[in-house]
Amino acid sequence: MKFEGKTALITGAGSGIGAATAKRFAADGAAVVITDVNEQGLNEVAAALPEGAVSVCPGDITKPGDVERMAAVALALGSGLDILVNCAAIDPPDRETDTAKALDIWHKIMEVNLTGAYLLMRTIIPHIVRQGGGAVVNISSLSGIRFIPGKPSYPASKGGLIALTQMAAVQYGPDNVRCNVVCPGPVRTPLFVGNTKPFADMVGKDLEEVFEAFTALSPMHRMGESADVAKAVLFLASDDGEWVTGQEFVVDGGFEAGGGGVAREDDRLMPARGELTNDRCSQIAGAARHEYAHASK
Ligand SMILES: NC(=O)c1ccc[n+]([C@@H]2O[C@H](COP(=O)([O-])OP(=O)(O)OC[C@H]3O[C@@H](n4cnc5c(N)ncnc54)[C@H](O)[C@@H]3O)[C@@H](O)[C@H]2O)c1
Repeated sequence: MKFEGKTALITGAGSGIGAATAKRFAADGAAVVITDVNEQGLNEVAAALPEGAVSVCPGDITKPGDVERMAAVALALGSGLDILVNCAAIDPPDRETDTAKALDIWHKIMEVNLTGAYLLMRTIIPHIVRQGGGAVVNISSLSGIRFIPGKPSYPASKGGLIALTQMAAVQYGPDNVRCNVVCPGPVRTPLFVGNTKPFADMVGKDLEEVFEAFTALSPMHRMGESADVAKAVLFLASDDGEWVTGQEFVVDGGFEAGGGGVAREDDRLMPARGELTNDRCSQIAGAARHEYAHASK
C-alpha cells in the first residue's frame, strides 16, 4: 500500500482519467477526496469502490469558495494533505470564426484548464508544505507541447499549465513539494469523444472509424486508456518518483516520438519540437487537412 497514511485530492474525478486515478489511489491505500462539477459521475466512482474509500466533494474548480471547500473536506479527514492531482478540464469545439464567440470560448477554456488549476495549487500547496512535503501532478496534454492546427485555446491552456507546473516545482522544491505534469496522447474518454465527434461528423465518418485512424497513427497501434495515464500519475506522486520534479511526462504510446502521427513526414498531425517556423506551420496545417481528407475517404 504505497499511499497508506496519505491524503490525495483529485479534480475532474467524476470521469475518465481523473476517475481512473482516484480508483488507483484508493486501491493503494490513500485517503482520497474526489471532486468534479459532475456529481453523478462522482457518485458512480464512489459506488464502484468499497464504502468510505473516497470522500465525494462536488464543486467547480473556477470558484475560489468551492476550492476552499474541497480543501476543507480533505483536511477534515484528519491527516493533512499530501497530494494534489489537477485533472479537470474542458475541450469544447474551438474553430469559431466570429471574434466575440471565439473570445468567449478562449476565456472559458483558460478559466477551467489554467485558472482552475492555479486556484487549486494556490490553495492546496501551503497545506502540503505544512505536511513537510508531497506532490502535485497536473494533467496537461500532448497538445501543450505541440500545437493542433486551427485549434488555439486548448493547447495554449495546456502549454500554460506546463509553465505553471515548472514554476511551482522551482518555487516549492525547497519545501519538498514535487510538481510534475503529465502530457497524455489520445485517450478514450468523454472529453476525447466530445472533441472528436465534430471532426467525425465533418468528414462523414463514425467515431470508431476516426479512432481507427488514431490507432494507425500510434507506433503501439492502440489508443490510450485512462488507466495508462493513472499509472504515470501514481508513479509521480509516489516515493518512487522522489527525485523527479518539474518534468513533462509524456504518456502516449509513442504518438509524439512518431512525430505526432504516422511515419510518413507529410502526414504528421503535429510538428516535432524545434520545427515551428511559419513555413513549417503552414505545411503542417496543410498536412492535417490532407489527413482529414484522407480519413473521410
Ligand atoms: N482524453 C484525452 O485524450 C486527453 C488527452 C490529453 C490530455 N487530457 C487531459 O486529461 C484530463 C482528464 O480528461 P479526460 O479525458 O479524462 O476527460 P473527462 O471529460 O472524462 O474528464 C474531465 C472532468 O473534468 C470535469 N470538469 C470540467 N470542468 C470542471 C470544473 N469547472 N470544475 C470541476 N470539474 C470540471 C468534467 O466534469 C469531467 O468529469 C484533462 O485535463 C484533459 O485535458 C485528455
